Amino acid sequence: MYTFTKFLSAVSLAVAASALVTNIVPPASQGAWNDPSDALIPDNTATTDTDSIVSTASIVDQKSGAAGDTDPNQPVPPVTVTAVDGDLTNTTIANLTSTRRRSARSLSRRDPSDYELVFSGSGTGPTDRDASIEGTAYLTFTLVPNSTYNVDACLAFCDSVTDCVFANIFYELNNPGLEVLSSNLKCAVYSDVHTAAEKINFGGQQLAPPPAGLTFIQDSSGYSSKTLVDPADPEGYELVFGPLDGANNAPGYMGFAFLDRYDVNACAALCNTRGADSQGGACQFFNIWRAVVNGVPTTYTCSMYFIVADATTAVNTGQGDLQVTFSRGYKRTNLVIDGGFEGFNECDDFCFDTQDANWIGTSAPGGTLDATIFFFQPYAHSGNAVALLGSATAEDSLPGTLTIAKPLTTIAGNTYSINFFQASAFSGPTLEANAFVDILWNNKIVATITPGFENYVFYQFTVTAVGNDVLAFHGGAAPAWSFIDDISVFQQ
Ligand SMILES: *[C@@H]1O[C@H](CO)[C@@H](O)[C@H](O)[C@H]1NC(C)=O
Ligand SMILES: *[C@@H]1O[C@H](CO)[C@@H](O)[C@H](O)[C@H]1NC(C)=O
Ligand SMILES: *[C@@H]1O[C@H](CO)[C@@H](O)[C@H](O)[C@H]1NC(C)=O
Repeated sequence: MYTFTKFLSAVSLAVAASALVTNIVPPASQGAWNDPSDALIPDNTATTDTDSIVSTASIVDQKSGAAGDTDPNQPVPPVTVTAVDGDLTNTTIANLTSTRRRSARSLSRRDPSDYELVFSGSGTGPTDRDASIEGTAYLTFTLVPNSTYNVDACLAFCDSVTDCVFANIFYELNNPGLEVLSSNLKCAVYSDVHTAAEKINFGGQQLAPPPAGLTFIQDSSGYSSKTLVDPADPEGYELVFGPLDGANNAPGYMGFAFLDRYDVNACAALCNTRGADSQGGACQFFNIWRAVVNGVPTTYTCSMYFIVADATTAVNTGQGDLQVTFSRGYKRTNLVIDGGFEGFNECDDFCFDTQDANWIGTSAPGGTLDATIFFFQPYAHSGNAVALLGSATAEDSLPGTLTIAKPLTTIAGNTYSINFFQASAFSGPTLEANAFVDILWNNKIVATITPGFENYVFYQFTVTAVGNDVLAFHGGAAPAWSFIDDISVFQQ
């Protein structure tokens, strides 16, 4: 450990003897940052925009069902994004979910006793009329043999459809298409549970030539899975909390999207592909929840954040007619251990060292303190500690290398993003002109940045893993110092 006092005399000597004589007080001597602008302090002030979520939920329409004029046994459509940051859209995220899905459902088959009746039908008397469900998270429908009111066949169908938790079984009359298919007993399945309040599709289509009447519905009942299976964690994420009845009201908010069903993989895919925030960097956390408006499931919100939140901010239980349910928070797994250097705590005001438990700084041959870790809040992008490339004492202008102490637990063949913040704003525009940092992955240069004079800026690079990969940063040429902070490696 090097302390300010210990270094004071060494520094004065070094500066006097060095060819790099400047009037800059180096970081080792607690020199002042040349550009103390606001950019140094990340702007984390944006919190969840609940008003925008609530007002968008009031206009989005995600209700669907087994319409009279569609064919049975359609493949389940990909998850659809129905709104992004308050604007309605209609885009799918097929590839992201199909390849990533790890359904807990497929592990165990259910039988009819695993379902319970939510509402029963009207009967099939000549004057009995009923309605089918028009609701969120509709998946597909089939026809089941109508020799009996075949609930078991319908629930077996639900079991065969990934993510099905609810089935609506009903007769549809006056539909000639069903005569051809020899059963008029429809079984429509959903990945969310619905109630009798959502029996709003009464038929009313003229599908048979007159004088035949309009289509109508009879004996519409609903069955839900007794236990709603907890979703498996999306790849590259871990569950932080939930399910709760509160959504996060947290800082580092990046925006939201609505999904047409509760799909944690789709929300993870949105977080992975969300553009970085210039102040806060990459998406690191998402909060997925179901919006129930006037008792009816209406949409599935995916809110994204560049700061990891937890249950303590999951306090927004709703607003007006909107109620928050099934709220879960997931944080992106950062494979870098202590990418913010906050584990470096050899002092509580000012100190620096060439290594700690998680990082190793190495000087160039003949160099002195060319890669160091500083505990000094004014230099840090966040927290109290930060890494420095370039001789901390300005003793030489050689680059140093900062390397993780243990290889990353990467999976060979997978793609990862390397994320970090860099600042080369210590010495002023002229002296920082030659600032550079090589980003090293297994000792090979992935990219070299030559930022010149620049306050903290977020950088992101993509790499492919071979397994047990080693991340390092090489650079600095005092007085063209580079500070590096808040390093992460995320699976893409
Ligand atoms: C979304 O797009 C698909 C394919 O283009 C279309 O079939 C569907 O009706 C659209 N949905 C909405 C709600 O606009
Ligand atoms: C998505 O999947 C389709 C069909 O498998 C494929 O043709 C397409 O290239 C994929 N897109 C991406 C971005 O991977
Ligand atoms: C079964 O469905 C067929 C085809 O729609 C229909 O003709 C028949 O009347 C139905 N039988 C019963 C018992 O509802």
